[in-house]
Amino acid sequence: MTEVAVLGYGTVGSGVVEVLERNAAVIEHTAGDALHVKYVLDIRDFPGDPIQERITHDFNQILDDPDIKVIAEVMGGVEPAYSFTKQALEKGKSVCTSNKELVARYGSELLSLARDKGVNYLFEASCGGGIPIIAAINQSLIANEIDEITGILNGTTNYILSEMAESGSAFEDALADAQEKGYAERNPEADVEGHDACRKLAILSSLCFGKRVNYEDIYTEGITAVTHADILYAKELGMAVKLLASGWTVPEGDTKRFYALVAPFLVSPENPLFSVNGVFNAVFVHGNMLGDAMFYGSGAGKLPTASAVAGDMIEAVRRAGETIMTFDSTELLPITAIENESRRFFVRIPKEREEAAEKAFGEIKIVTVPELSGETGFVTEEMTEKAFEECAEKAGGIISRIRIK
Ligand code: HSE
Repeated sequence: MTEVAVLGYGTVGSGVVEVLERNAAVIEHTAGDALHVKYVLDIRDFPGDPIQERITHDFNQILDDPDIKVIAEVMGGVEPAYSFTKQALEKGKSVCTSNKELVARYGSELLSLARDKGVNYLFEASCGGGIPIIAAINQSLIANEIDEITGILNGTTNYILSEMAESGSAFEDALADAQEKGYAERNPEADVEGHDACRKLAILSSLCFGKRVNYEDIYTEGITAVTHADILYAKELGMAVKLLASGWTVPEGDTKRFYALVAPFLVSPENPLFSVNGVFNAVFVHGNMLGDAMFYGSGAGKLPTASAVAGDMIEAVRRAGETIMTFDSTELLPITAIENESRRFFVRIPKEREEAAEKAFGEIKIVTVPELSGETGFVTEEMTEKAFEECAEKAGGIISRIRIK
């Protein structure tokens, strides 16, 4: 039997215990050994819950117990998760995590520490919930040069946008619903402002492009400015509003430029990300040999995320003595500013500035929504981000704009 510990008994932590217990037989078979949860670390007590007898408030009890070989860190946040992870790896214990904030910030350091100690730091659950995207990038796709990764990487915002479009729900009601279902972060600002998707994009881009991506270098917009009016226009255009997180490369001579961006986009039905609704996530990858592939599945929530953490724990047991994740580049990937990137934009302006918009933007395609009579919506020709800003200023200001994929 392999003794394991779980740090944090919140949504994901309780899910990890549940997965390990409910699927004990299949896990014993695949891991080649039974996994038994000896300790659960939490600052709270859970009187009346059978977990209480395994609750500890002292991390050192776990650290100093030589029986504990694998730890699930599912507390979230940077501290104390960072210190606990470092100490555990230093003591030769493998750590499996869903903590995207920690992986985005300290992943490369923790991975090289794990390699030095001959153990594992695994984080499949940090991106895409239950979707095995990290295993795919690290194993199945390694014969490729990946030149694009674009995903719907946040379940909460995709749930909110889908509810707004399908049921006409208000933003706040859809968010409250996502919180109730256990999709949202403790502080949902991380979801709705795009920070969570940004951190996941930094992790995936680092793995795809082979160098460390600093998430603070990624241009990020959330969905707080997306309104019911935008959804109406999207419907009129036959499109859907999606929060996309995208990293891509552009060849330049013998080298490449790297780009990364998180923002709401209007997505057309031809794009496979158009039909990704609710809490589902999807990650589109383009490899130079592979062509296109898309990974789709449950992107957040207790059991999907916990199943990815438990999968890593099984792998850590099965491959004990071997370090699986070998990415340890500390070199920073320079991210190019997006100002010269070209695309079309959907724009809303007050009705009285329609003529000024035509003068400023040149050829535009007007979109009319009967309920919104005091304003004009239009789609621009392809233009750079920089040119767009200049035209918007020339037009005397706009109500809002959404990029078009
Ligand atoms: N809050 C995150 C989301 C949880 O909604 O996607 C999964 O990482």
